[in-house]
Amino acid sequence: MEAWSYDGWGGPEVVRLGELPEPEVGDGQVLVEVTAAGVNPADHRLRSGGAAQLPHRFPIVPGLDVAGRVAAVGSDVDGFAVGRRVMGYLGVAFMVDGGSWARMVAVDAGSLVVTPDAVSDELAGALPCVGLTALLMADTLSVSAGDRVLVHAAAGGVGHLFVQLAVARGAEVVGTASPRNFDYLRSLGAEPVAYGDGRTDLARVASRPFDAVADFYGGDALAESARFLALGARVATAGASTFADAPRIGVRPDARALAELASLVADDELRVRVADVVPFDRATEALATVEEGAAAGKLVVLGPQ
Ligand SMILES: NC(=O)c1ccc[n+]([C@@H]2O[C@H](COP(=O)([O-])OP(=O)(O)OC[C@H]3O[C@@H](n4cnc5c(N)ncnc54)[C@H](OP(=O)(O)O)[C@@H]3O)[C@@H](O)[C@H]2O)c1
Repeated sequence: MEAWSYDGWGGPEVVRLGELPEPEVGDGQVLVEVTAAGVNPADHRLRSGGAAQLPHRFPIVPGLDVAGRVAAVGSDVDGFAVGRRVMGYLGVAFMVDGGSWARMVAVDAGSLVVTPDAVSDELAGALPCVGLTALLMADTLSVSAGDRVLVHAAAGGVGHLFVQLAVARGAEVVGTASPRNFDYLRSLGAEPVAYGDGRTDLARVASRPFDAVADFYGGDALAESARFLALGARVATAGASTFADAPRIGVRPDARALAELASLVADDELRVRVADVVPFDRATEALATVEEGAAAGKLVVLGPQ
């Protein structure tokens, strides 16, 4: 089958398009024919060896998110008939079983849900990793009505979904972003502020301190906003933060949470911002755009035609 893969950790040049044997569907797994796969910063971090200590098997097929159709079902699997549309977040299992940048991928059934009819494959491929991370952050911070919440990297793949979840819970949301995304954040119900240069714009909006801070950037973002926190404020990061007190969340496959998110998307209560959908043979170009931080929304790679 056609697949992107790499034989060792490294930069963009290690990822090659070629032919690999179709994966075997194991016990408790579903073989999915891929129609769409979201691109995430983790795709380049892991390719560079960011989790080299975890179990892995070269050649590694990248791709953490998957949307597609059930092609075969392993033993001990219920609820996934052949031909059904499904979506899922593979997590680090992709480093052993193979990821979604291929014609077929074998996925643990517990990582998959049936895709609602109202959700396109492009949206289903874009949602899993970022949606699960956003929901995990909202739950970790117990975001609720009346909270004043600061979001770092609010217009990014995770941030824009977190903003929507927080606004839907009745929170008042301020988000850091570059000016190109200010109108977009306002359209989600958040107040935008610029990042960079000590985040001086925060002082302008922080007349009332924040009850919670969700950091989807890392670095000094949390440390620089520490002086704007209310007493007892909840903070968490999804990145590598210099702020020692910040718990780091770690997204994992979670079918119950993914089903909840997919249903919100189906009901148009959660909108995934897709910047572009690219053909399979341009997957590495899409990853380079994500690596440069240049995407305005999610990039989605189609399965091989
Ligand atoms: N721990 C976990 O489980 C987990 C799960 C998923 C993702 N993550 C991590 O979370 C981060 C965000 O992921 P993503 O998918 O949302 O990435 P993304 O779509 O590439 O978005 C990154 C965002 O960072 C913003 N940004 C750039 N420089 C910034 C700065 N100096 N201060 C604040 N924001 C800045 C950009 O904002 P503008 O576009 O407005 O310039 C961009 O929207 C990544 O580091 C990713 O690896 C962690």
